[in-house]
Amino acid sequence: MKKIGILTSGGDCSGMNATIRAAVRTALRLDIDMVGFRKGYTGLLKGDCIPLDTRAASGILHRGGTFLQSARCAEFRTPEGQRQALDNLQRLGVDGLVVLGGDGSLTGALSLHRLGFPVVGIPASIDNDIPFTDMALGVDTALNNIIYAVDCIKDTASSHERAFVIEVMGRNSGYLASVAAIASGAECAIIPERTFDLDEMCRQLHLRFEQGRDNAIIILAEGAGNAQEIANRIKDTIGFEIRVTVLGHYQRGGAPTVFDRLLASRLGKRAVELLAGGTHGVMVGLACNAIIATPLEDVIKGEKRPQDEMLRLAEVLGM
Ligand code: ADP
Ligand code: F6P
Repeated sequence: MKKIGILTSGGDCSGMNATIRAAVRTALRLDIDMVGFRKGYTGLLKGDCIPLDTRAASGILHRGGTFLQSARCAEFRTPEGQRQALDNLQRLGVDGLVVLGGDGSLTGALSLHRLGFPVVGIPASIDNDIPFTDMALGVDTALNNIIYAVDCIKDTASSHERAFVIEVMGRNSGYLASVAAIASGAECAIIPERTFDLDEMCRQLHLRFEQGRDNAIIILAEGAGNAQEIANRIKDTIGFEIRVTVLGHYQRGGAPTVFDRLLASRLGKRAVELLAGGTHGVMVGLACNAIIATPLEDVIKGEKRPQDEMLRLAEVLGM
């Protein structure tokens, strides 16, 4: 293998830059050239790439986002788009590709693999909804961002005897919400994975108000409802005055945590080593603190295992 390409696709997350850096350094040690495609699959379709040497990939380890930029590219979903991408890869002399992104981006990687092109995927999405990896890149940083925000909100909530509904991202996954609720000591977590009794929640919150507690925090996963609607429904029954905060894209940015920097470095290195050694059509992930490779076919048809343990923990802790 002489030249490897890398791209970041779908929703960005912290740790993408650190992954690119590790991939570039690993490739150079193996005497392989590296190029970065800009704006995800859009760059592949346009043949828009830049050479990546140690210099180009330095000073980025600690930066959130992705300096290659990311995009959602509808055209790449079509067979014509994928053919065009393949032609460009061949024209540019690229022999292998590393794709960072969520389940959509990894589905795109699988389509290239099915066309016979060597590709390795890296799970990168704050949603943590990708199977065959305990953690995707960016999840830990997003959780730390959320916890910082919830702690801040709790301060002001306590000063005014207020309840807050705090909406977090996650698409259809309640992972961020349930872990954030546990780690911030929230009163409730509303997530898509379990049915929720709103009346019972209101009774518990009212009891808390009558006991003289000065705040209440409800963490809502975006896939489980709308924060303002829930606040409107419960505002007259809980005693506390209520406010809403939608954390939004704040969650996705910022300097990656140590966990994400290390995960990024391990995944970036392994992805390039696999391609160089002739293994492809796989996603690298983290299982029991080891880096493992799973066929993309299995990843895409798989389902993220249910968060039974997390849900039980939340229940035991009173959420
Ligand atoms: P994420 O990767 O974060 O889940 P998306 O679902 O938006 O984000 O996917 C990112 C990009 O991956 C899409 O814009 C598209 O270019 C590509 N993609 C998504 N689904 C497919 C698919 N079924 N086939 C081919 N490419 C896909
Ligand atoms: O998949 C990551 C994610 O941040 C989801 O949690 C969220 O629903 C979505 O992307 C937001 O997408 P966009 O950045 O296009 O608004």
